[in-house]
Amino acid sequence: MKIVLGSDHGGSKYLSEIDEFLQKLNIETIVPCGFPTDSIDYPDVVKSCVSSFGQNEANFIILICGSGVGVSIAANRYSHIRALVTADLYQAKLAREHNHANCLCFGERLYGIDQIKEVIKVFINTSGSKEPRHLNRVEKLGDL
Ligand code: RB5
Repeated sequence: MKIVLGSDHGGSKYLSEIDEFLQKLNIETIVPCGFPTDSIDYPDVVKSCVSSFGQNEANFIILICGSGVGVSIAANRYSHIRALVTADLYQAKLAREHNHANCLCFGERLYGIDQIKEVIKVFINTSGSKEPRHLNRVEKLGDL
């Protein structure tokens, strides 16, 4: 499994922790913008991560900013990206099953790192439903 990671300056602490966490699970991580020490605008981070996601045929993108909101809004501007910001295990599961979400966003200022790690585990280990009603809806998302 390959996961693209990115954060602005508001999420850089968690970016490092999530990178380390995923590598311990033997997951390949790609961090196109590195680990920001100075201010960097979240739309620029998201643009690089979405581009890297396609180029590397990665499975998922994980994005962090202060609230999780900026990166999720930016990611959802791309028709092939289905992003959500959540710290809820069941919502993460449903997002994979029903919505085939491929991008998970977090706010470093809001959630504890242990909760985030649990959400990541659920998200990356849940498959998208193959039920026609869900496939049809996901396809419609791409047409919007
Ligand atoms: C940066 O200070 C902060 O505004 C940003 O990380 C994010 O929370 C925006 O949505």
